[in-house]
Amino acid sequence: MSGKKRYKIAVIPGDGIGPEVVLSARRVLERAAAKNGLGLELVDLEVGFRAYKRYGRTLPPETLDAMRECDGWILGPLSSGSYPSDDKDYPMASGKIRKRFDLYANIRPVRSLLPGAGRRGVDLLIVRENTEDFYPDRNLYKGYGEFWTTPDTVISLRVVTRRACTRISETAFRLARSRRRLVTAVHKANVLIEGDGLFLQEARECGSRFPEVKLEERLVDTTALQLVTMPESFDVILAPNLYGDILSDEAAGLVGGLGLAPSLNAGVDHAMAQAVHGSAPDIAGKGIANPVAEILSTSMLMEWLHSKFNDESLSTTATCIENSVIGALNESRVSHLTADLGGSASTESFTESILERI
Ligand code: NAI
Ligand code: MG
Repeated sequence: MSGKKRYKIAVIPGDGIGPEVVLSARRVLERAAAKNGLGLELVDLEVGFRAYKRYGRTLPPETLDAMRECDGWILGPLSSGSYPSDDKDYPMASGKIRKRFDLYANIRPVRSLLPGAGRRGVDLLIVRENTEDFYPDRNLYKGYGEFWTTPDTVISLRVVTRRACTRISETAFRLARSRRRLVTAVHKANVLIEGDGLFLQEARECGSRFPEVKLEERLVDTTALQLVTMPESFDVILAPNLYGDILSDEAAGLVGGLGLAPSLNAGVDHAMAQAVHGSAPDIAGKGIANPVAEILSTSMLMEWLHSKFNDESLSTTATCIENSVIGALNESRVSHLTADLGGSASTESFTESILERI
């Protein structure tokens, strides 16, 4: 055996269509890694309903401990909205993972990958703050979340810190530097004067350190409109957590839907591949989910590991996965695509056509 590093990647199926699309991502990753001389050790872990059955909670400490030992994770979607209310991790295990491991940047590319599926010429990147804002977490930060103050009133707390605004801005500007050099900071500072004001302040401050990148500021409602009317006017969209969450589903709708929308959750020490979509209970178990979003998320994870470890085989594996997916999408007859793209292929048969191209 050579002394070359073997990367330890956790594979976590999640709920609903998660096991189906994560299995596809795993198969594609294994094949691409073998082709590119990348050493991997895949570790099976459980989060979600499977974990609840086994450990009595959806995000057990056993899983978190094992995750910490890995270089990266592939996570399927979680049916967080329907977890039992006695589950200690209710309502959002994904959010807890992001906070626990400080995966502060959610990076969501939106590209026209398939002619005929949505708009042509879209190529933008949503950079979403991933750890604070309106997203409640009762266990990690005391007093952070939503509260019934009387039987008829709920008060929601929103947390915005300078540190989080600074580091997500830096991520957006760094990424924009190697793209078309435009960052659009999305806000609602006309109403959320202090929180979004702080977010804008840090975006501007960061912008002054990246003079080669142009900063534009846009209200979130206007952005929602312009994503539909003029998506080509965006390069990198920098957004607080909630706006980024909503805009990324909207943007996915422009270019063929959630089945084609990948996403990476990245911190300093760890990163997690997890598609934009949810657990799709309406099609779960039918073997018809589109695996592309989860597979491209996995490719993003390999690229992120490459930026950390500077190991060329990570980068070639990432490119190999991406090219095979794009090839399978573009060279297949429509009927050989999955149902969300107008075809009748199963998750498995479309995965096979990706594997054939590796
Ligand atoms: P969803 O994203 O699961 O589904 C929305 C629509 O898109 C459905 O019609 C679904 O069939 C379709 N769709 C999604 N992914 C697809 C794929 N890969 N291939 C083909 N079609 C696909 O959103 P929904 O229904 O609002 O939420 C379902 C559950 O997922 C809820 O419990 C929610 O809390 C959870 N969720 C979890 C997320 C995560 O873990 N990252 C993100 C979003 C929702
Ligand atoms: Mg979402």
